[in-house]
Amino acid sequence: MENQDVIYGINGPVVTVRNSRSFSMMEMVFVGKERLVGEIIGITDKVTTIQVYEETTGLRPGEPVFGTGSPMNVTLGPGILDNIFDGIERPLKKIADDSGSVFISRGSHVPALDPDLLWEVTVTVQVGDELKGGAIYAECPETKIIRHKCLVPPSLSGTVTKVAANGKYRANDTVVELTDAKGNKHELTLCQRWPIRTPRPVTERMQPRIPLVTGQRVIDTLFPVAKGGTAAIPGGFGSGKTMTQHSIAQWCDADLIVYIGCGERGNEMTDVLREFPELIDPRTGHSLMERTILIANTSNMPVSAREASIYTGITMAEYYRDQGYHVAIMADSTSRWAEALRELSGRMEEMPAEEGFPAYLPTRIAQFYERAGYMENLNDTSGSVSVIGAVSPPGGDFSEPVTQHTRRFVRCFWGLDRQLASARHYPAISWLDSYSEYLVDVEHWWQDHSEGSWQESRQKIMDLLQREVRLQQIVKLVGPDALPDTQNFILEVCSLFKTAFLQQNAFDEVDRYCPPEKQVKMLNAILAYWERGSDAIAKGVPMVKIRRLKAVQELARIRLSVPNDELEQIDRIQMRLERSIDQIGGIYEH
Ligand SMILES: Nc1ncnc2c1ncn2[C@@H]1O[C@H](COP(=O)(O)OP(=O)(O)O)[C@@H](O)[C@H]1O
Ligand SMILES: [Mg+2]
Repeated sequence: MENQDVIYGINGPVVTVRNSRSFSMMEMVFVGKERLVGEIIGITDKVTTIQVYEETTGLRPGEPVFGTGSPMNVTLGPGILDNIFDGIERPLKKIADDSGSVFISRGSHVPALDPDLLWEVTVTVQVGDELKGGAIYAECPETKIIRHKCLVPPSLSGTVTKVAANGKYRANDTVVELTDAKGNKHELTLCQRWPIRTPRPVTERMQPRIPLVTGQRVIDTLFPVAKGGTAAIPGGFGSGKTMTQHSIAQWCDADLIVYIGCGERGNEMTDVLREFPELIDPRTGHSLMERTILIANTSNMPVSAREASIYTGITMAEYYRDQGYHVAIMADSTSRWAEALRELSGRMEEMPAEEGFPAYLPTRIAQFYERAGYMENLNDTSGSVSVIGAVSPPGGDFSEPVTQHTRRFVRCFWGLDRQLASARHYPAISWLDSYSEYLVDVEHWWQDHSEGSWQESRQKIMDLLQREVRLQQIVKLVGPDALPDTQNFILEVCSLFKTAFLQQNAFDEVDRYCPPEKQVKMLNAILAYWERGSDAIAKGVPMVKIRRLKAVQELARIRLSVPNDELEQIDRIQMRLERSIDQIGGIYEH
């Protein structure tokens, strides 16, 4: 080969080549004798800059660099589910089986999808069919619960000129031949490649109107996220980010989960790798992994692979959305990802902006969350990608750049509160700092799925919580005895609401998942307590008499004591409560 391009300089994961005209921006390249995976991230007339996704120790100037002619991409096809990848789609499970360690050896070019596995394929098209980009041409059961649909690459269309018989095929076997308008033939296998930094095209972005039901009361009832929506979970160390994301992954009503473990400490990630495969999917009774993709990057893996991991994850999510599925993607934590950006930027000697982060940090955060959405796909199915990102601000200080920029691009903010966490109020999602901009979008859904008005009840309790804050300030100054019972009762109801409703025990058999119908019944029962109780107090009933009622204690235990399929018990508790308040009220009326 004439004029072989060779390494000139090496600075951590950043490698330079001099005086080369061979490469294009964002091209995927192989670096050095070991052919480490890299990507072109800068070109001037003198210097080409490469970000290398593997450990560069031992790499030397003068070693060759090879182009691939295509951008950094991933393979999409059956076998992604129930798998664990690193940030550039190398299968950790396979590598672990082969080498006995999850830590990848360099230049190990294990294919992303097992090329020897046989899939039971049904071809869904016939010779003569006209297919456009995105059309489904074959299906196979990928796991016990998910059917994989093979899609014509978005840029391709044509007439089916050959089809294979139904039967067992490998990922790279041709099952359909498509002839385009120019007469060129394209062999379609079970998989395709897609550049990770380019969103997969859709027909139309739709308004998100259906909540992603998580079964977590503080989220669904107070700060709901829509399917196709975006949410951030900021919180300091130990405040419950990972637990919250696990609960959502396990209980939310998405069809598929993409979980990106991003740069948290090595042992924490190993926990995830061990725990996740053990989780049982409550809806199917099978392993949760049957509908999960794990992407793992511990802090001891190269930072550049961490940078790529969120794009790899969201590309996979979009691919299943295109098959008509609802996908929820969790990134834990986007702060570690932003730190990878900062480190790479520093190595390239770019001009730093706030706290050393590159000036393009907000653009990159936006590009990630913008890929969420409820979409009409090219093949007329619809599907969604919901993005939930954890943010770990140093010292739990929300004013730092990653939290602040994330806040601009997400529509749901579940702020974790250190004081709640240390008081063991879990989930420690603050009802004062958090918000959701999907309240109006999902209102119709709630109307169809619950009795009474969710929006109205939610507003009532939010108002009480606001009034409580002001009363607490007064109590701090003058003590609780100075407040009249009418106001003390607000404190009482809010306190009950926090322990009986907002707290939710992720480890309790019944409490860990609360269906929306139960959430609304519980909320309305607590509001009934508030309304009847205030009426009675207005008539002169002392608050202590009401607070001590047996039915109030029953109310406080509903979350643990009432099974999800016996919700009529809540109606009975509410009736008993109303009756006993009325009885005491009756005594005081005369
Ligand atoms: N919903 C919850 N229910 C019970 N315990 C929780 C809950 N959320 C957090 N915890 C407790 O807090 C600890 C730390 O939570 P974790 O999610 O690991 O924090 P972070 O990821 O923010 O550092 C957990 O090990 C668990 O004991
Ligand atoms: Mg964590």
